[in-house]
Amino acid sequence: MSLPTILVADDDRSIRTVLSQALGRAGYQVRATAQASTLWQWVEEGEGDLVITDVVMPDENGLDLIPRIRRIRPDLRVVVMSAQSTLMTAVKATQRGAFEYLPKPFDLKEVLAVVARALATPAMPVQPAAAPPRPEEQMSLIGRSVVMQDIYRIIARLTTSDLTVMITGESGTGKELVARALHDYGPRRAGPFVAINMAAIPRNLIESELFGHERGAFTGATSRVAGRFEQAAGGTLFLDEIGDMPPEAQTRLLRVLQDGAFTTVGGTVPIRANVRIIAATHRDLRQAIREGAFREDLYYRLNVVPMRLPPLRERVEDIPLLARHFLNENADGAGNVRVLDEEAMGRLQAYRWPGNVRELENLMRRITALHPQESIGADIIDAELAEVSSSGVPGEGTSTETLAEAVERHLRRFLAAGAGQDDMPMSDIYDKVIAEVERPLIAMMLSATRGNQIRAAAMLGLNRNTLRKKIRDLDIPVVRGGA
Ligand SMILES: Nc1ncnc2c1ncn2[C@@H]1O[C@H](COP(=O)(O)OP(=O)(O)OP(=O)(O)O)[C@@H](O)[C@H]1O
Ligand SMILES: [Mg+2]
Repeated sequence: MSLPTILVADDDRSIRTVLSQALGRAGYQVRATAQASTLWQWVEEGEGDLVITDVVMPDENGLDLIPRIRRIRPDLRVVVMSAQSTLMTAVKATQRGAFEYLPKPFDLKEVLAVVARALATPAMPVQPAAAPPRPEEQMSLIGRSVVMQDIYRIIARLTTSDLTVMITGESGTGKELVARALHDYGPRRAGPFVAINMAAIPRNLIESELFGHERGAFTGATSRVAGRFEQAAGGTLFLDEIGDMPPEAQTRLLRVLQDGAFTTVGGTVPIRANVRIIAATHRDLRQAIREGAFREDLYYRLNVVPMRLPPLRERVEDIPLLARHFLNENADGAGNVRVLDEEAMGRLQAYRWPGNVRELENLMRRITALHPQESIGADIIDAELAEVSSSGVPGEGTSTETLAEAVERHLRRFLAAGAGQDDMPMSDIYDKVIAEVERPLIAMMLSATRGNQIRAAAMLGLNRNTLRKKIRDLDIPVVRGGA
């Protein structure tokens, strides 16, 4: 039996070398080229069992090659690699029939896993080429982090499917933007995208908003009004903040999803529901189910394709891209764009972003509006962020903040302040941080026991001598019998 042959096309010699070696070690035969034309020639000659191709090559775009390859050799699987790891690349690669899309830099283990999977998967039927999603290649979703690549992959895989999607993520992580992208790149893109926010509508009006009502259905219903289900016909219905949906409306929605039809409030004639559903929530729905606030059967109906949007602090590598994007979008009246210096960028990356991308967007807007100088330094960022924390954004020093979150917030500041400063030795962080926690803890216990070290030790669960030593080491003033 002959070894499978992998055809590799990439104009970067080091990538060809690395791939050839790794694939060779894994037992494959490899042919590598820098030219798309050579790759095409091999494919025409019937060579190879799998193609791994770069997108940008000197003579032709690798993405343009895929449909041609699929036409003459439908069973030859194509894996696309690209350094332009944007949503657009992921979508195009998938639409043109690529088996998998690997953002560069890639992990060799992942490449080998994809190759093995591709060779083991039976060939997919050639799908009719989908029309390009939108004329402009304007990127709506910014970010190249690994976590965002996963999001792009899911969006790309869903371009030809109508499956229901459940998007979860903290406030401001881009749930609505992703819902729109799913619509814009999906099969119903020619239809309307209709959003309804469950948290923004009075509970007693939700059903009539969703399903519409007949004239005279209730006081004030002076004419027939179409609901969102009807308005979204042929398109996508975005059920935002689904976790805030009242129980009766949940029951009604479930029935509509089961029956595929609905009636208006006050109406009797069933109307066929022709919408693709995308739901979103910042709540933990499993928790809501346990508390009896959300129907489990509805949850399973909606959670067909779950997508979790990462909070901004889990993708700090995207912060510079996003910050620059928002500064560019918010040029001031004179058309000038603010630029953040390196230190300022470091501050942004160290911050916790409880309001996620929206908070970053607002900060960039505020900075453009309030600071006329072109170059923005760390002092401005510090001042602006201090303003935010004192005004009590949730998670920033408020009562909902856990101790771990508070510690994390302080540590980010602490590390950001110390990074790159020679006069601040970063060798005993552990002891310093523990001392930071121990000092107020012990001081408060001493104060609560009016300086009674025996009782303080008992409350802390510490040996008396240990407590005494800590008081000495941490230099905590002991006021006997004090308040
Ligand atoms: N990846 C991204 N690239 C560019 N802009 C983004 C991205 N994610 C979010 N935004 C922007 O951040 C803002 C908040 O996004 P969006 O409204 O989609 O968040 P959300 O998760 O729906 O928030 P909420 O839970 O508060 O409704 C929007 O202005 C959006 O354009
Ligand atoms: Mg939203």
